[in-house]
Amino acid sequence: LLGEPAERPLQGMKVLISAGPTREPLDPVRYLTNRSSGKMGYALAEAARDMGASVILVSGPTQLPPPAQVDLVRVETAAEMYEAVIARAEASDIYIGAAAVADYTPAETQSEKIKKRGDTATLVLRKTRDILAEVAALEKRPFTVGFAAETVDLEAYALDKLARKNLDMIAANWVGQAEGGFDSDRNALEVFWKGGREALAMTGKKRLADRLTALIAERLQAGVV
Ligand code: CTP
Ligand code: CA
Repeated sequence: LLGEPAERPLQGMKVLISAGPTREPLDPVRYLTNRSSGKMGYALAEAARDMGASVILVSGPTQLPPPAQVDLVRVETAAEMYEAVIARAEASDIYIGAAAVADYTPAETQSEKIKKRGDTATLVLRKTRDILAEVAALEKRPFTVGFAAETVDLEAYALDKLARKNLDMIAANWVGQAEGGFDSDRNALEVFWKGGREALAMTGKKRLADRLTALIAERLQAGVV
């Protein structure tokens, strides 16, 4: 029954979530992107909403319908996502960085279509800003949750990101496996925080989002006490 405090542990909280891929233009007809459906981020937005939070979802391009009663902010590039998230982060209680942000963007976007020339071509790319690390470094920081998509050494890389980006929690998942991860309706997560960990077994993304959101609420409460 919604309305019971135990089932609405995020009542009155402001939750900011980033989701989906980013799209980095090379010229008017081409872009660099990554394999992200946005499903996990959208499921997290619905889970947080159902637990009583007011939710802002900053989303890169996806095929997904906008979740009901969620404030959807559409962006395309990593730079646009950075601006949209940073502008709202200090007013938020929780930030969940579920977007697959491009790590590099073309150093220059050509205003005209790039023409075919030699047998090989080279792109010059520039590193994007790390939205998650910058949110965690804000003076008035929200409870900051990151994701880590890994193909090898999941635990070591996840713990490194937790510490290096100064996160409150990190949810790591295997990508490039038979099941789960990008484009899939199912996923499993290894969640780490300072002094604890929990494995969330392979299940549908909505159910997984409910479990992760409940865990975030639990850790947030534990930190407040
Ligand atoms: N992230 C971000 N801004 C970036 C790159 C990543 O906010 N420019 C966030 C993602 O949203 C995710 C987390 O950082 O929550 C981890 O992303 P991931 O790609 O796993 O880690 P990186 O730090 O980018 O390192 P690498 O890609 O080398 O593994
Ligand atoms: Ca990355």
